[in-house]
Amino acid sequence: MIGKSYSDDIDRVLIGENELAEIVYRLGAQISEDYKDKNLLMVSVLKGSVIFMADLMRAVTVPCNIDFMSVSSYDKGTKSSGVVRIIKDLDQNIEGKDLLIVEDILDSGKTLNYIQELLLARNPNSIRICTLFDKPERREVDLHAEYVGCTVPNEFIVGYGLDYAEYYRNLPFIGVLKPSVYEESN
Ligand code: IMP
Ligand code: MG
Repeated sequence: MIGKSYSDDIDRVLIGENELAEIVYRLGAQISEDYKDKNLLMVSVLKGSVIFMADLMRAVTVPCNIDFMSVSSYDKGTKSSGVVRIIKDLDQNIEGKDLLIVEDILDSGKTLNYIQELLLARNPNSIRICTLFDKPERREVDLHAEYVGCTVPNEFIVGYGLDYAEYYRNLPFIGVLKPSVYEESN
């Protein structure tokens, strides 16, 4: 059950605000260097990447456009259902664009694999993936992210956009959720 106060539900802080800012700054600098002469379109996968996207785009110093896409792969729980549904598609034609898919966390990889295949079929100039977090040991499909903020242990984390049952997105840091929070309601 989700408690009345977030502090009751968080086991510990995994990554604090300052460390998050450093990670985002480093990624932004790297992306700015790599996309100097490109036609950068940053695509945020809603809703988990929304805070990361907002910070990352301000750490990018080259011209860029942004767009949003919403898919669902998790129904309230903590494991991928394998079923990916498009809830909101991109607003624009991506032909000739250099897409950077911005994601919160790469887990089984099923969600991003699906999105990447779908967007590749629309003839962009290039597609790369930027994920804030990666749980490599959980991967079920062969998917590579060119930009990774940091790898995280196989624990359920929340905050900075990441949710459990749509809560905790507004935490400014990354916390590990007490297993009791999801074990009771699953
Ligand atoms: P995948 O398709 O299994 O890679 O799932 C990726 C999606 O699962 C992410 O975009 C998140 O929404 C969600 N997810 C995976 N692990 C976590 C976690 O530890 N905390 C919160 N959401 C997670
Ligand atoms: Mg989620």
